[in-house]
Amino acid sequence: MKSALGKRPFVTANFALTWDGRISTRGSTPADFSSKSDKRRLIEIRAQCDAVLVSAKTASADHMTMGLPDAALRAARIARGQSAYPLRVLLTNSGRVDPALRLFAETFSPIVIFSTTRMLARTRTALAARADVWLHESASVNLPAMLAILRADYGVRRLVCEGGGQIFRALLAAGLVDELHVTLCPRIFGGAKAPTLTGIPGAFLPASVPLTRKKMEVIDGECFLRYRVGKSIG
Ligand SMILES: NC(=O)c1ccc[n+]([C@@H]2O[C@H](COP(=O)([O-])OP(=O)(O)OC[C@H]3O[C@@H](n4cnc5c(N)ncnc54)[C@H](OP(=O)(O)O)[C@@H]3O)[C@@H](O)[C@H]2O)c1
Repeated sequence: MKSALGKRPFVTANFALTWDGRISTRGSTPADFSSKSDKRRLIEIRAQCDAVLVSAKTASADHMTMGLPDAALRAARIARGQSAYPLRVLLTNSGRVDPALRLFAETFSPIVIFSTTRMLARTRTALAARADVWLHESASVNLPAMLAILRADYGVRRLVCEGGGQIFRALLAAGLVDELHVTLCPRIFGGAKAPTLTGIPGAFLPASVPLTRKKMEVIDGECFLRYRVGKSIG
């Protein structure tokens, strides 16, 4: 649970998958292929976490606010000593974040953006009033450092990565994922250019990642699975 930089949060991830492993359509449009139960599960998993992490691409594609639209879940968080809403965390290497994204119009919880010094000055200025912006001087965000900052500066002990595939892949390749929730949905998309759990199919991961099943439930034709993520096998 510790990075060289200090403690990091427990990292869980949550995805809905088609039976051929797609998370979205070719055009990366919001593919609304999972059930109400899956959407409810997503909110429940989010409610257990101190922070929600997505790429700026997914926040935009899915028109996310990253909120918690259930008063009872918010009340339960407060009773546990958490804030009503989880912290919202955006990730982008290029720094291309549209300040007009829907989530910036909502002020229910702070927003933290991790990016690089490639972010344009005018974007930094536009985002400064809406979010904490951490810019790494490397070509890509230093993910272990990001997690250590979230733990040390924002008190994040449990974080859920809600996508997309490229972000999940990067965390996985760095050995920074502890748990995975997947909902297998009874749909088949096909499509060489449709993102999968690890982004558009491409290079192998540096090493395969073993999963240990902790839970399996079938509800209305969908299969809800929870796995512990093990150490990569070379
Ligand atoms: N079914 C599901 O559960 C689910 C969940 C989430 C998303 N989705 C869907 O998945 C699609 C997006 O998935 P995706 O795999 O194409 O993309 P993604 O992971 O959401 O985002 C990829 C983008 O993130 C940035 N990025 C990549 N690696 C990074 C790293 N290591 N550090 C910082 N930034 C990094 C890059 O953009 P920059 O140019 O900004 O650097 C890259 O283009 C959308 O259509 C969305 O609707 C589905």
